[in-house]
Amino acid sequence: MTTRRNFIRKVTMGTVAVSVGGVLPGFSAKSYKNIVGANDRIRMGAIGVNARGSALTGGFAREKGCEISYVCDVDSRASARCIADVQKIAGNTPKGEKDIRKLLEIKDMDAVFIATPEHWHAPAALMAMKAGKHVYLEKPTSHNPAENEILREAVRKYKVVVATGMQRRSWPNVRNAINEIHEGIIGNVYFGKAWYTNNRASIGKGNMVSVPEWLDWELWQGPAPRVKDYKDNILHYNWHWFYHWGTGESGNNAVHFIDLLRWGMGLTFPTQVSSMGGRYRYEDDWQYPDTQVINLGFGDNKMITWEGRSCNGKSIESSSVGALFHGEKGTLLIGGGNAYQISDLNNKVIRDVKSDIAFRPGDTRNPSQQLDAFHFTNFLDAIRINAPLYADLHEGAISTTLTLLGNISQRTQSTLKTDPVNGHILENKAASRLWSRQYEKGWEMKL
Ligand SMILES: NC(=O)c1ccc[n+]([C@@H]2O[C@H](COP(=O)([O-])OP(=O)(O)OC[C@H]3O[C@@H](n4cnc5c(N)ncnc54)[C@H](O)[C@@H]3O)[C@@H](O)[C@H]2O)c1
Repeated sequence: MTTRRNFIRKVTMGTVAVSVGGVLPGFSAKSYKNIVGANDRIRMGAIGVNARGSALTGGFAREKGCEISYVCDVDSRASARCIADVQKIAGNTPKGEKDIRKLLEIKDMDAVFIATPEHWHAPAALMAMKAGKHVYLEKPTSHNPAENEILREAVRKYKVVVATGMQRRSWPNVRNAINEIHEGIIGNVYFGKAWYTNNRASIGKGNMVSVPEWLDWELWQGPAPRVKDYKDNILHYNWHWFYHWGTGESGNNAVHFIDLLRWGMGLTFPTQVSSMGGRYRYEDDWQYPDTQVINLGFGDNKMITWEGRSCNGKSIESSSVGALFHGEKGTLLIGGGNAYQISDLNNKVIRDVKSDIAFRPGDTRNPSQQLDAFHFTNFLDAIRINAPLYADLHEGAISTTLTLLGNISQRTQSTLKTDPVNGHILENKAASRLWSRQYEKGWEMKL
């Protein structure tokens, strides 16, 4: 029988690939079941189940040995829809619980995923860790950089598994691409360029309306200081573009590709951050830029740049999203999907690795269930058999902080000098004030 310990050793040594759909390659379903501890069913609570949360529900409900047992949302329509989805996919009927505090008191729940708006991400993750639950936390990991420092401490303190929604870190060809970079295929990589393009519509100017009967506005706001007037252009999704709740396109999308660049280039925190851009395309309530370029300098002759165009979908390298790693000997391109291409310095393609797994970049909710299954399985394997996480909180928090520093530079219209050890802003009081936020009284994050 494969013991848990020697299995973990094999995984750590890289002699066993991590599983797809709950069964590891090289193991039959039967032999996998013989791994001690692998049979335990993981009971999950789904927190925030509208768009991405509904995709996560579908993904986790299809995973072997995992059950969506509880559903938590402050929108009663989203909860009802999600419960019905689970019934259809997996056959069980999850219990609904609107209040996350009550949900986390439930003893027979092992883990949660969090796909709420971003002002809730870090506070909810901390509450879950304190309750002893493993956490799959959607990106960005936080609404402000200070929250990332608290979360990183919390993982050490509460000793639970915390994965982030940087799912590309689990996609097989993306992993291969990064390995090739680390093995030196294009030499020293000194410039990374990432982008995101879309044709998002205006969100208009909101009208004050009464809070809909399906929504608990008080709980939706949770840790964010109260806004009394409820406007009809905040929910769902549009909160992304308001400082109070969202992190803009950079937190929403730069985070995925800055994460890949950072990983491939072996970078952590920068020494310098600048951002330029604005809400150029429409005049409406949208506060963050719809057009933005963030530059991150790392010292040691390396930099990353990200271009975001929320309202002009002209693609780059035939892809609406992507990352280019420019090195001494050539360039590696990762587009939106599970594929990559390597060119030499004269633009000759020397390797073109395609994916046979479909990816739909235009589907913001669920671009690829099949690819994301690798990521969900990795989270569950980390809980079951201590498999190393592909996208742990530590890395996700650093990548998130980089995008948030870009936003702080943008909001303060200043180039930031930052400490390469921890990302802290140096010699700029106005910018440093945005390192953390005010919380609604009683909702402060306490380790
Ligand atoms: N990894 C990815 O590729 C990916 C893709 C899309 C979205 N996301 C992330 O997922 C998150 C959710 O995005 P979305 O588009 O689904 O947003 P959304 O606004 O459509 O859904 C958020 C849901 O959370 C619920 N919610 C709010 N407060 C809650 C609370 N206190 N308890 C329980 N539920 C609560 C809302 O009612 C809503 O149903 C965002 O942070 C986004 O960045 C990640």
